[in-house]
Amino acid sequence: MMQKPRGTLDYFGISINELNHVFKKLKNIAKLYNLGEIKTPTFEHLELFKKNIGVDTDIINKEIYEFKDKSNRDLALRPEGTASVVRSYVENKMFGNQNYVLKLFYIMNMFRYERPQNGRLREFHQFGVEYLKSNTFYDVIEVIQLANHIMHEFQFDKYILKINNIGNFEQRKNWKNKLLEYFSLHIDSIPIELREKALRNPFRILDEKTIISKQLLENAPKLENFLLDSEKEEFEHLIKIIKELGIPFTIDNTLVRGLDYYTNVVFEFVSTSDNIGKSTIIGGGNYTKLIEDIGGPRYDGLGFAIGIERLIFCLKENGYDFCEPNKPSIYVFRDENYDLTKLFKINSKLREMCHIDVHCLYDEFKKQKILKYCKASGINHILWLCNNKITFEELDSGKIKEYSFETILEKGIFI
Ligand code: HAM
Repeated sequence: MMQKPRGTLDYFGISINELNHVFKKLKNIAKLYNLGEIKTPTFEHLELFKKNIGVDTDIINKEIYEFKDKSNRDLALRPEGTASVVRSYVENKMFGNQNYVLKLFYIMNMFRYERPQNGRLREFHQFGVEYLKSNTFYDVIEVIQLANHIMHEFQFDKYILKINNIGNFEQRKNWKNKLLEYFSLHIDSIPIELREKALRNPFRILDEKTIISKQLLENAPKLENFLLDSEKEEFEHLIKIIKELGIPFTIDNTLVRGLDYYTNVVFEFVSTSDNIGKSTIIGGGNYTKLIEDIGGPRYDGLGFAIGIERLIFCLKENGYDFCEPNKPSIYVFRDENYDLTKLFKINSKLREMCHIDVHCLYDEFKKQKILKYCKASGINHILWLCNNKITFEELDSGKIKEYSFETILEKGIFI
């Protein structure tokens, strides 16, 4: 039997309803923040991701789905949305006559060759938000507020915002050199398996708190020593506002994020539930050079993305109810003698005019079976077309009403 590839999901029945429920809520939230929607191609030139996510990152090193097309072009399935959205912003000159920030959102599937487990897939969906030409200070607050709003909307309260200021590229370069110096001096205290990483990409071992000695990490050079006083003050101001807004947070100076385009403020919303484990649901931050690097003007950008499958996983563990409010639905039954054309006319009237969800098993004539079907499907109304009569029945109250075919065609039925 042919099976789906590892790390992918089929969506049907309950799972597609859950997915659509989450999409719908997220789109409604996006409207409240005046975000416009964008969709970009599923695949892009490999170079876009390599250059902007960074060749030393896990996403590019290990996880990218790359391929050659029939004309030998190097392409890749998108592993994330930011680089593609910025490429589109620049290519379509969306900044042209826009003097202020452009706020966009997307719901797109992403592809990463990761080891599949709960909340980690090879094809997954993200709801992402990008603010282009942003004023970083105010927009960071709004974007974090938006992410926090999503947590509230889904009644999820087992989370914490982790936030850090990673400085600009120049400041990070200086910090990296100091870290390299420091780790080279103490290389014997670093476990063998992490030594190469420590000397190649020292930021990425700062959060290896379980394997590396606490003292070694604590004494490592800190980025804050490379930041300007005015930048530190601005970050403190931001933190003060986040605190006043009541968003649960912690400043985590080991948070560096796994994509190279980030600068300045970066953040994650991490689940604190013991059942789920400490998984990151949302990740984001500033990217002050990406728009320029992709060929656009020197504008700042900022955004985040939420992993939809990871969110759904957390919500299920938290007992969230994904049910939509009941839509009016009806079962239309006909006995074998009732005119078939009339049945189809009634059904289309109920659907088109009355917007009722119509169920009908055309060749099932046993009433007991119909009642069982209605119970299982949560249907409370039946229209019986029997002996040339039409009877409307409300199952829970037992109420009954007769209709003529002509009345239904003219006025419909409203439930
Ligand atoms: P990211 O941290 O790589 O950031 O991914 C964001 C979220 O996508 C994660 O927090 C997680 O919920 C979800 N996610 C990542 N990998 C997987 C996976 N293999 N399976 C399921 N879910 C996953 C970005 O992608 C940035 N583009 C976010 C951003 C937007 N930054 C600025 N703007």
